Amino acid sequence: VRPIVIDTDPGVDDALAFMLALRSPEVRVDLITTVAGNVPVEQGTDNACRLLALLNADPWPPLEQGATQPLHGTLETATHIHGDDGLGGLTRLVHPDGTPMFPLPDHPPIGQQAAQRLIERAEADGSDLTIVALGPLTNIAQAIQQAPDTMRRVGHLIIMGGAVTVPGNVTPTAEFNIYVDPEAAAIVAASGMRMTWVTLDVTRQTRLTKPLLDQHLGGQHTPYAQAIRQLTQSWFQGPPPHPGVPLHDPLAMAVAIDPEVVSCTTLPLQIETQGEHTRGMTVADRREQRHGANNAPLVDIALQVDVDRMLSLFAERVLTP
Ligand code: BDR
Ligand code: CA
Repeated sequence: VRPIVIDTDPGVDDALAFMLALRSPEVRVDLITTVAGNVPVEQGTDNACRLLALLNADPWPPLEQGATQPLHGTLETATHIHGDDGLGGLTRLVHPDGTPMFPLPDHPPIGQQAAQRLIERAEADGSDLTIVALGPLTNIAQAIQQAPDTMRRVGHLIIMGGAVTVPGNVTPTAEFNIYVDPEAAAIVAASGMRMTWVTLDVTRQTRLTKPLLDQHLGGQHTPYAQAIRQLTQSWFQGPPPHPGVPLHDPLAMAVAIDPEVVSCTTLPLQIETQGEHTRGMTVADRREQRHGANNAPLVDIALQVDVDRMLSLFAERVLTP
């Protein structure tokens, strides 16, 4: 069983990644850190609590709140994609008597020291530890700034972020998690940690379609099944046939569970922090012959995905009662 830390901005697809992690015996979630991204961090922390309760997390992993803002500038959220509450309206569902279906549960105290807790996990587990980063990289960058050598000993950092051969999803060149905090992403990319970038190149290919959802959840009426339907509902709006919900964060989580689900290319990677039109772009040097110096550290970038393998894993773990 591999110890993992989830750094997250929950988030509809973060929620689906939580489900995958907490229902997979290959990994044990030892810490969850929250970061400002899809929603303000306080909302993200509440969402993490609701999800842990929904999933009957046992033991309840320590939860630590992190950065409220990117390293520079102010937060741009993605509530137009994930709903005001970040969970597609899940928090507003009520029983016929008006009581909330997914209330904020009683929970152990939550700290405010995400970067510090990340460093402690890195010290404790070193090369055994996997960190799965599902939001802007602010907390991870702060941990690297405070303890670069300790963070370099972490076995594997898996990042959902970036777009290398495909367009971005916020600007023509920038993916959301990198767009929100490019300076943090630049610190992480240059850190020398062992890392795998799970980019839009692959996450856009793995989609939860309505037929797949109905095939598995069709007969289920549990709160869990209802939560998945509500989480994904607004993403299925628009004229059919809908291409399906892109499994961005679940694919990054799947790499921690079954690394063979993607194939990686090792490339020098730099993050654009200045460009007038390209801020937040992930610039990977894919030239066959690299003329001139490219001193950017080499990282693994997932550019191919075994779609069937991912969807089978997701259906088997997440869409079963
Ligand atoms: C990423 O951005 C967020 O909105 C999602 O949760 C995911 O982490 C996809 O670009
Ligand atoms: Ca996310």
